Parts: sequence; structure tokens; C-alpha cells
Amino acid sequence: MFTTALAQRENTQLGELPLDLFAAIQSLKKELNAVILAHYYQEPDIQDIADFIGDSLQLAKAAEKTNADAIVFAGVHFMAETAKILNPDKLVLLPDLDAGCSLADSCPPEAFAAFKAAHPDHLVVSYINCSADIKAMSDIICTSSNAVKIVEQIPKEQPIIFAPDRNLGRYVMEQTGRDLLLWQGSCIVHETFSEKKIVQLKIAHPEAEAIAHPECESSVLRHASFIGSTAALLKYCQSSPTKEFIVATEPGIIHQMQKLAFDKHFIPAPPMNNCACNECPFMRLNTLEKLYWAMKNRTPEITMSEDIRLAALRPMQRMLEMSV
Ligand code: 13P
Ligand code: SF4
Repeated sequence: MFTTALAQRENTQLGELPLDLFAAIQSLKKELNAVILAHYYQEPDIQDIADFIGDSLQLAKAAEKTNADAIVFAGVHFMAETAKILNPDKLVLLPDLDAGCSLADSCPPEAFAAFKAAHPDHLVVSYINCSADIKAMSDIICTSSNAVKIVEQIPKEQPIIFAPDRNLGRYVMEQTGRDLLLWQGSCIVHETFSEKKIVQLKIAHPEAEAIAHPECESSVLRHASFIGSTAALLKYCQSSPTKEFIVATEPGIIHQMQKLAFDKHFIPAPPMNNCACNECPFMRLNTLEKLYWAMKNRTPEITMSEDIRLAALRPMQRMLEMSV
């Protein structure tokens, strides 16, 4: 649940937008002593103005290390909330407070508390794509880039609940040979990819490699020659000798892929229907204009109760210690 006051939704957009938004944002950055952190799924303009772009783990680490007074988080709510958990004294701004996450929403705190209570001998490993309330009920947090490494460090005889993503959970089970009790959550974007269309693309582009994010269903993952977090996918495209890739994750990342591997060709994996549902509707709520207004008005700000923050901090710190 979003804990930010309703009043902060009204990011009062008074006055006119400056003609040079990039320059105006740079000047507000100095005024606020702010750092702009952006996820790879943000629109190209936001990626281009960000001080740091990364996957969830890299962004959490960047938020932990920053000396800025304010963090402008161009990503979704759970990411900005993570930054606040790590930085209680900093101003954390999210350009659009409605930038949520279907995966985080698929794990409501009350239902999860009951699930956890029914399995008291289980350790809870939660994917970072969850609310602060779920983090507070967890023993260790993980991201798509360290989930396998974290589960491998837990003694074999220890039963584990893995939440909220069943697809990442199933992938971790395959990689570690562990039996995890999975919460049945998922991401609407990563479940939209069509196995049939990926196979058709592979036939039409026989030299292309398919690469995928572990939030995809196993029917898609089985066609991928590389599976990894957004940062890992980006790194793989740069280092692989292959010139053409079918990319099964949110296509926002293709902006960086094209910038860093400009001699290569990237084909976004298509959704099942003729829609744009492979674009994350939550990530895309943030725009350069909203980022400007958030910095100008210093709202919407992420806030949370200190009890929840402290409870959520413990498993976050455990993750950071276990993934050095
Ligand atoms: P990454 O940590 O791989 O960037 O994943 C974040 C995410 O939300 C994927 O949908
Ligand atoms: Fe959440 Fe999926 Fe969007 Fe990632 S792509 S932020 S998991 S809804």
C-alpha cells in the first residue's frame, strides 16, 4: 500500500513549463543537491538526464551510497520506497505516485501475513519488487541479479518461502535445485510475451539470440540463450559476438542497448496481442515533465512509518551483505 499522504498526489503543476527542460532540471538538481536515479525501463529522455541508470540492485546500492540531500527516483514506487528505507533523512521524490508495480500489487500484506503464519518454519526470501510492508515481513530481500546467489547461501535443510514472483521463483528452483514454496504473484508485462511469436522471430532471424528477464514464464525462458536482470542483459549484449538479439523484457532497455552496442540490432519480443502491453504501464507514467514538476514542487515525496522502515531495512541490509 502506498503510505504517502493523498495530498501529495496533487503535484500542483503551477506555471508554464520552461522551454529547455533539460537545463531547468539541471539547475533544480543543483538547488536541491539532488541525484537522479533511473531504471532502464524509463523513457529515453529520463535515462539521458539521469546521474545513474541501473537495475534494482544497482539502484539500491546507488541510493545507499549517495551523499546528495535529495533522491529523485525515476522508476516505480517500490524502488523509490527502497531508497527511502535506506535513506530516512533524505527527501525521496517519485515523479508520479501512481507508478506502482503489478508484481508488488500481487502480494497484499494481509494475505501474505496469513501465508507466512501457516508456514512458521520457513525463511522468507522476497524479491525487491514488493511493498515495504512485505519487506518488513521478510528475512532476506533479493533482486533478479542476486536471487540465485542468495538462495545458494541458505543452508539446504532450511525451508524457504519465495515471494512474490512465481516465475523468478521457478527459475531460482531450477538453478539451485532447491524446493521453494512460491507465492503465486507475477508481472503483467513479463507474462505478456508470446512463445509462438518468439519462435517465429527466431525462424525469421536465424542468427539472432533470444535473451530474457527471469520474470518471464518458463515457456519463454526455454528459448533464451541468456537469462538475467536488466543490467545483466545489457552487459551480455555488449560482450556477445552476436549482432542481433530478440529481447524479452520491457523494451525501455533497448535505448541503452543501442547506445552501448550501436553496431547491433535489437528486436523487442512481441506481446501476445496487437497491443503495447510489453511496455510497463507503471514505469511509463513518469515523464520528463513530471520529473521537472516533482523537483520544482518537492512533491510527491515518499514517506513511511519508522516501524515499517526499520523492519524493512533489516532484510535489505542482509541482502546487501550477501551480495558483495
Ligand atoms: P531488474 O532488477 O532486472 O532491473 O528488474 C526490475 C523489474 O522491475 C523488472 O520488471
Ligand atoms: Fe513491476 Fe513488471 Fe513493471 Fe517491472 S515491468 S515494474 S515487475 S509491472
